[in-house]
Amino acid sequence: MPEFQTSPGMRDILPPDSARWRRFQAVFASVVEAAGYGEIMPPLMEDLGVFMRIGDATDVVTKEMYDFVDKGERRVALRPEQTASVCRAFTQHRPLTPWKVYYSGPNFRYEKPQRGRYRQFDQVGIEVLGADDPYLDVEVIALGWEFYRRLGLRRVDLLLNSLGEPEDRAAYVEALQTYFDDNSGALTAQSRVTLAKNPLRVLDSKRSPDAAVIAAAPRIGAFYSPQAAAHFEQVQNGLTDLSIPFTIDTTLVRGLDYYRRTTFEFQGGTLESAQNALGGGGRYDGLVESLGGPPTHGIGFALGLDRTLLACDDEGVFAAPDTSVDIFVVDTTGGREALRITAELRDCGFATDRAFENRSMKAQMKAADRSGALLAVIIGSNEVEAGTVVVRPLRQPIGEAARQYDIPRDTLVSEVTQALVKAVREASA
Ligand code: HAM
Repeated sequence: MPEFQTSPGMRDILPPDSARWRRFQAVFASVVEAAGYGEIMPPLMEDLGVFMRIGDATDVVTKEMYDFVDKGERRVALRPEQTASVCRAFTQHRPLTPWKVYYSGPNFRYEKPQRGRYRQFDQVGIEVLGADDPYLDVEVIALGWEFYRRLGLRRVDLLLNSLGEPEDRAAYVEALQTYFDDNSGALTAQSRVTLAKNPLRVLDSKRSPDAAVIAAAPRIGAFYSPQAAAHFEQVQNGLTDLSIPFTIDTTLVRGLDYYRRTTFEFQGGTLESAQNALGGGGRYDGLVESLGGPPTHGIGFALGLDRTLLACDDEGVFAAPDTSVDIFVVDTTGGREALRITAELRDCGFATDRAFENRSMKAQMKAADRSGALLAVIIGSNEVEAGTVVVRPLRQPIGEAARQYDIPRDTLVSEVTQALVKAVREASA
């Protein structure tokens, strides 16, 4: 066992997995850029106060923050999510509204590590600031839906709720408090602790002894103001117009305190319930103000990369892309020929690798096979003397003998181009 290993909940993402992550981010960028979103890259670390605005009744703030005092005596934290950072950036830079941004990158929460739950985890997400329109809620949800479709995922459920206007939500929280207080004897000890902090979060309990009390709890729908009810209805109608199926879940409160009106979650049908939230989001009118900005409407979502990839594995979609090189150069004359040939091929745009340490022909050919290249370009002292190189297709059909052939050294690029076209055709036949 080596002395140093990654810390609990932290992982190295190695090739070829890393290529899959990059492609995930690229597919997300292409979906949201096509809808007018520009990328924001907030810092990994901010003043702790920025993240305190997520809500001091949330686990994210009270238990999971990676906060510390830096060398300048500032109280800072690694970001546990990026919505608060985006709102801080909005108040700092005051861009024109509606401000439509997307992000991707790591976040940090000191959680108990398990499958699909890590201390450093990646999200992709979008946020829109400065627009209050139920059709924007529909656009945001539809972009998440479209992204899952582009990955090839089929078993994703969209859960939808509205927490009402702030006053509706406040009246509902009061009613819930009274109800749960009256029934606290039937709640689990953990839920009684949650109740003391935030009665809404009790609805989120997945513990079976709480289920009966939660099932009979007051429902948010009875507390909607006419505006909140109309907004929610338009969101539902818009989703129906786009043929996006959803289920209304009145217990969907989400783990962060800033939500108002629309909230939603995408759940993976193949994952265990404790980690089946692939992503989620909602409206957070009020967050910009709490960070010192003007009253500003906000909505967005974040999708967990790790869990979404687990769901992709379960459904057998979105495999790691093939990052093999095209050509592998084998040189048994010491390596200088490989240096030249590799540079020439790379200059012409061919992904090319080579062997080092002047290994035997056999060892270099083994490396060529392992590289996944379609072609080997081989040069030995005979070829140097004759002014030729050998081209050998590496993935010839099973049972067929290697069909290597000599070509003049100065026709390398055109010969290799033809050989690659042929090899690609054969590989996809
Ligand atoms: P969240 O629900 O805390 O929302 O996180 C969104 C997604 O990030 C989760 O559904 C999950 O897939 C993933 N995730 C969260 N924590 C972990 C973890 N420890 N390990 C692995 N994956 C995790 C937010 O972060 C909000 N900022 C979403 C939002 C954006 N709301 C409005 N705009």
